[in-house]
Amino acid sequence: MKNIVVVGAQWGDEGKGKVVDILAPYFDIVARYQGGHNAGHTVRIKDLGFVLHLIPSGILHPQCTCVIGNGTVVYPRAFNTEIQELNRLGIDCTGRLFVSERASLILPYHMAIEQAREEQLAENRVGTTMRGIGPAYEDKAARKAIRAGDLLHSEVLRAKLNDNIADANRELASMGAPTLDPGQVFEEYVDESSTLLPFIRDTATLINNAVKSGKSILLEGAQGTMLDVDHGTYPFVTSSSATAGGASTGTGLGPKLITGVLGMAKAYTTRVGGGPFPTELVDDTGTYLQRRGNEYGASTGRPRRTGWFDAVVVRYSAMINALDALALPKLDVLDEFEQIRICTAYTLNGQTVETMPYSAATLAECVPVYETMPGWKSKTSGITKYDELPAAAKNYIRRIEELTGTPVALISTGPERDETIIRDNSAIAAWMTR
Ligand code: GDP
Ligand code: IMO
Ligand code: MG
Repeated sequence: MKNIVVVGAQWGDEGKGKVVDILAPYFDIVARYQGGHNAGHTVRIKDLGFVLHLIPSGILHPQCTCVIGNGTVVYPRAFNTEIQELNRLGIDCTGRLFVSERASLILPYHMAIEQAREEQLAENRVGTTMRGIGPAYEDKAARKAIRAGDLLHSEVLRAKLNDNIADANRELASMGAPTLDPGQVFEEYVDESSTLLPFIRDTATLINNAVKSGKSILLEGAQGTMLDVDHGTYPFVTSSSATAGGASTGTGLGPKLITGVLGMAKAYTTRVGGGPFPTELVDDTGTYLQRRGNEYGASTGRPRRTGWFDAVVVRYSAMINALDALALPKLDVLDEFEQIRICTAYTLNGQTVETMPYSAATLAECVPVYETMPGWKSKTSGITKYDELPAAAKNYIRRIEELTGTPVALISTGPERDETIIRDNSAIAAWMTR
């Protein structure tokens, strides 16, 4: 049995899309378990870049079945756009992409509410992707979400929509924002959802039957551990369970059936949106990392904040997700540095802090303790064999392994599929067999 979770170990954008694309040929099903079209997962094949938002990155492999699990939130218009883009590339999703009937839907009022609230928060705003993610998960927790399965029952849909829009309009009016017409939303939504209907299934049964018949599942996380609604830098988080535990609740694959967890941690750190970021570099080095790493949001185009590798963050992620191994993308971005810093702990009011403080306000007060390592000042881009890495790069990787207590099984040295090192005898090498 082989059912593996790929989870972001930082604040998202660690390179999950690239690694899922590399692993997908060795799995039968690739499933998304949380989040929505706030995600932007890039896969690069021979100068062509594909950005997947909601549909699993396995869709580029014709032998893979893809599942959008019950833990996700689905916006039909975004789903249509993605299906059309894939069709244009000659990729047909029919019969190999399924959307859980239990997935909650995003509706236009979710975006309207999010926009009005973020405006009110002013400088305290979360800096969300404005995709309606938070308000959609609120409806789910409030037990009033409209779910994908409801699209198949027009009267249920109309009744729920009327109730929910009445609530939403009260909130919108209280914030001085324009209200929505339920009749118009219903007509437009039914029309936009027609593409989605044939994809809706009981995906928990589909996945469990597949496992029973010996098939393997790759569970593709979106966002990252520091954006998880429980374990992240709350309230500057997304509204779903991005950590490995979410893979079970978000698909219906019982925890005992998950056999491995891969954490994604890029060789430095980035964050999009608001919230504390202890190792952030608001200087020329930060700008350099942003440019050389091409750190602009794959979904929103916003520049990503950049900083040194934070081992406190990744150590915490290793614990929360029980990581078997780390994948370390973007090593090549550090090629020109004379010296590279790693944050090993924080100090707070004269005390050393080695685990993540629960409060974002406290984290904002934490000062990183840095260890400085010599850079390698040579080109690692495109290297595919560990032995060919410069000694200083190997030392950097070894130090990350020590500080996080997790073996680095994959190193990525460029955006292309083949710009990748897989360590011999590693967990990933074992997963990359049929
Ligand atoms: P995800 O959200 O975790 O899938 O990551 P994103 O796709 O949002 O961001 C990762 C970005 O880094 C994409 O533009 C990738 O093409 C790029 N990338 C991935 N791995 C590497 C690498 O090893 N080196 C470089 N230079 N770029 C990489
Ligand atoms: P991938 O899967 C990086 C961030 C937003 C914001 C916070 C809440 O590509 O790694 P939301 O719209 O989810 O309510 O926004 O989370 N965020 C991401 N940051 N990568 C992502 O996805 C993200 N998805 C959401 O910037 O700070
Ligand atoms: Mg991304």
